[in-house]
Amino acid sequence: QNAERFRACLREWFEADGQDHPWRKTTDPWAILVSEVMLQQTTVAAVRAGRRFELFLTEFPDLATISVAPEEQLLKAWEGLGYYNRVRNLQKTARAVLEDWGGVFPRAVPDLLALPGVGPYTAGAIASFAYNEPAPIVDGNIARVLARVFDDLTEVDSSQGKALLWNWSEELLDKVNPRIFNSALMEIGQVFCRPKNPNCMVCPIAEFCITRVPDRLPNKKAK
Ligand code: ADE
Repeated sequence: QNAERFRACLREWFEADGQDHPWRKTTDPWAILVSEVMLQQTTVAAVRAGRRFELFLTEFPDLATISVAPEEQLLKAWEGLGYYNRVRNLQKTARAVLEDWGGVFPRAVPDLLALPGVGPYTAGAIASFAYNEPAPIVDGNIARVLARVFDDLTEVDSSQGKALLWNWSEELLDKVNPRIFNSALMEIGQVFCRPKNPNCMVCPIAEFCITRVPDRLPNKKAK
């Protein structure tokens, strides 16, 4: 019931003030996969500024196009983004969807997880952002938000911490609006619940957050 108020609050804020990133204007699972892989090690600002998402999709609009592209073309299209294995993996995933699924991305998380280059986060992202399936996601932003909301000191990079985060993400998830919920929670982490100097004063979910020491969270294993 508190969770229901949390969902309503998050959704109302996002519908009024959420950003409309180019990858939020599409429900094509291929485009969603491209955006998630691109945003894994590249900031939203860099992807937006260089129009890298739009340019990449202009060059590789669908699975068939990338599946037959030579490696030099892949590397050229990814130039400057770094971690070049990401674009090779995109091609592998595309080929697998063509071979195993007749070119249509599956919508069930276990089926998505069986694809090469697709882990739990990416599977949940495709399921929820493309298909609006009630699949939870946990990335660095969401992990930070949840650790603070629940004021939990469990190390987020321990197996126990990860299990906790995925459970919270699933329990809180708005099963009616999973696309909006997941986008909104991620954006809370980017806009208000920043690693340093979080802006709790104007955070739309502050009333649900019990931490008074956000700077100590999330707790991570000593390296
Ligand atoms: N970073 C990774 N995925 C993202 C998304 N869908 N929206 C905003 N930032 C992201």
